[in-house]
This record gives sequence, structure tokens and C-alpha cells, in this order.
Amino acid sequence: MATIREKQGAAHTRIMGVGGYAPSRVVTNDEVITWIDSSDEWIRTRSGIQTRRWATPEETVLEMSVQAAGKALAAAGVHGDQLGAVIVSTVSHMHQTPALACLVADRLGTNGAAYDISAGCAGFCYGVAQASDMVKAGSAEYVLVVGVERLSDLTDIHDRGTAFIFGDGAGAVVIGPSDTPGIGPVVWGSEGDKYGTITQTFPWNEVPEPGPDGEPARGPFLQMEGQAVFRWASYQMAEVSLKALAEAGVTAGDLDAFIPHQANMRITDRLVKVLGLPEHVPVARTIAEFGNNSAATIPLAMERMLQDGSAPHGGLALLIGFGAGLVYAAQVVTLP
Ligand code: UT7
Repeated sequence: MATIREKQGAAHTRIMGVGGYAPSRVVTNDEVITWIDSSDEWIRTRSGIQTRRWATPEETVLEMSVQAAGKALAAAGVHGDQLGAVIVSTVSHMHQTPALACLVADRLGTNGAAYDISAGCAGFCYGVAQASDMVKAGSAEYVLVVGVERLSDLTDIHDRGTAFIFGDGAGAVVIGPSDTPGIGPVVWGSEGDKYGTITQTFPWNEVPEPGPDGEPARGPFLQMEGQAVFRWASYQMAEVSLKALAEAGVTAGDLDAFIPHQANMRITDRLVKVLGLPEHVPVARTIAEFGNNSAATIPLAMERMLQDGSAPHGGLALLIGFGAGLVYAAQVVTLP
């Protein structure tokens, strides 16, 4: 009987380039408090958010993805037609099928494999793990990972628990072969017993009723048990972060940057404390400006920190994403 020939890819992988796209419309806390009973002070102190970006109608998930991807490809020195795969992490592409990734791949000029993943705010780190494994296995030489959201489309502006938190945006990286290790082992998992803590108000196949005065039907929107998610993220994600460091064989003191998902500034503070992160290690705090744009927060923050010089090219960074599922993923990477 014939045996199947297997393929061998690269010994090591790395992030070759990063790009981000922040939508043009700045939504202030003062605007948000015209929708909900709240205050600028409450939003700042409880979440760390000062402004968030919301996309205009022209800033679609496709356009934002293409913009971020174009920057990542240019930074990596890779052409679109060299991409063997395109992975898009999103929960706000409003078509269950086909995948947004197919349109992104087409716009970038590749017929490589293309698919979306639904892993909420952990989606970018999930994508990085998959892409790295693909390059090592030889299924693709270069892989694009995009995290993109228009959470403004899924936000009930009258919901006090979520209206101030979510934002829109996109970030992308190109992952390819490397001479030295550039992407550490992923520590990832799911806690499906907490499935109900971040959900849609109703499934896509349910048709909402019009409002009592004949207003158009609204939703579905994202809803969240904020406190439960906050506790889970603050405690369990600290352990996951420590495990990712241990699996990569590095310590917090070896890091040149800490780039956690931007869910809440107080969660970031707690993670920094538990990690015992030395003061000289820069920490992503882009939630203040961009809000929580889910799968896009980490690559957007990475781009920003490299651009403003707070994190060094070639430095070591710990990434951790966590969110709806509940799901999480963390890995140590070398910054492009
Ligand atoms: O990205 C995916 C993962 N998501 C996250 O990790 C988000 C995690 N959760 C959070 O970030 C926080 O839970 C929130 C920022 C969403 C909420 O902050 P909190 O400190 O957990 O607020 P809370 O729900 O415990 O409410 C505290 C108080 C309550 O008043 P009393 O009962 O203490 O008098 C609420 O009624 O704050 C009140 N409150 C508000 N006040 C002003 C709740 N929402 C608001 C609001 N404005 N928008």
C-alpha cells in the first residue's frame, strides 16, 4: 500500500509585520452619556475609557481589514499573492456565510485558503497560533491574521452595561518562517460553562418585533454579565499569562512589552500586578483612546507601541486575549 507523503514547513515562525486601522469617528464619553445614565468620571474610573472609535458606513469590516492588512504586508515585505492563507477573526461580519476572509483575500490578490474564526476577544491570539502552526506544518509559507470588528453595529446604545465599552477597528499581522523562535507555545482554552456571560440578545434567525410605537426592530446586540467576566478575566487570565511565560521559558523581567486584550484598564492593572511586571516594561493601554474593539485590540496596540517607540522592534512581548465563549489564548512573541 502506498504511504502518504507528509510536508515539513519552517522550523520557526515570527510575526513579520503589523498594521492597524482606527476608524475616523471619535466618540467621547460626553456623547455616550447622552444615551445612558452615567458620567464621564464613572466611565473613566471603572473602565479607563476616554474615547472610542466608531466606524462610518464606509468603514466596513472589509475596508478596515484591507487597510490594516495592506500596512502589515508592506511592513513584512510580503506581497498579497504570496499569502497561502488568510484568517479573519471577527464577530461583526453580518453574514454567517460566506467568510469575510474570502473577500479580504480577493482584495489582496491571493487565492490562498481563507476563513473566519469566531473566538471573540481571543480571536487574534487564536489566529496567531493557527498561522504559526500552519507555517511550521508547511500548509502555507505566509499567513495573514486579521482581527476586525464593528461592535458599534452590535451595541445597544441604551444598555448601561455595554454602551460605553465597545469600539470598532482592525489590526493585522503577517506570519512567516524564521531562523529563530519568534512565536512561543500558545496557552489556550475555553470555559463553555460560562457561555452565557457574553452573548447576543437573540440569534440571527429570530426576527425581532418592532417597538411599541412602531419603531423599527432593533438588534441583536451584545450583552454581558460585566462583573462575572471582570472577575474571571482578572484572576484566571493572570494564571494563563504566567503559564504562557513559563511555556516560552521566559520571565516577566525578560519582556519588552505586555500587550493584553483591552477589555478594561482595571483588568490590565490587575494582570500587571500578578505578573510582577517590572516598571520598565511598557504596557498596552490603548483602551483609553480606542475602547474595546475585541479581536482588533492587540494588533492595534502592537502597531501603536512600535510606532511611538514605547516597545522595541525585535523585543519580546506577552500577548493575551480573552472573551466571549468564554475563551482565551496567550503567547510570547518577538515583535516585528
Ligand atoms: O472584551 C471581552 C471581555 N469583557 C470584559 O472583560 C469586560 C469585563 N467587565 C467590565 O469591564 C466591568 O464589569 C464593567 C466596566 C462592564 C462594569 O464595571 P463594574 O465595576 O463591574 O460595574 P458594576 O456592574 O459592578 O456596577 C457598579 C455600580 C452599580 O451601582 P451600585 O449598585 O454600586 O449603586 C451600577 O448600577 O455602577 C453602576 N453602573 C453604572 N454607573 C454609571 C453600572 N453601569 C454604569 C454606567 N454608568 N454605565
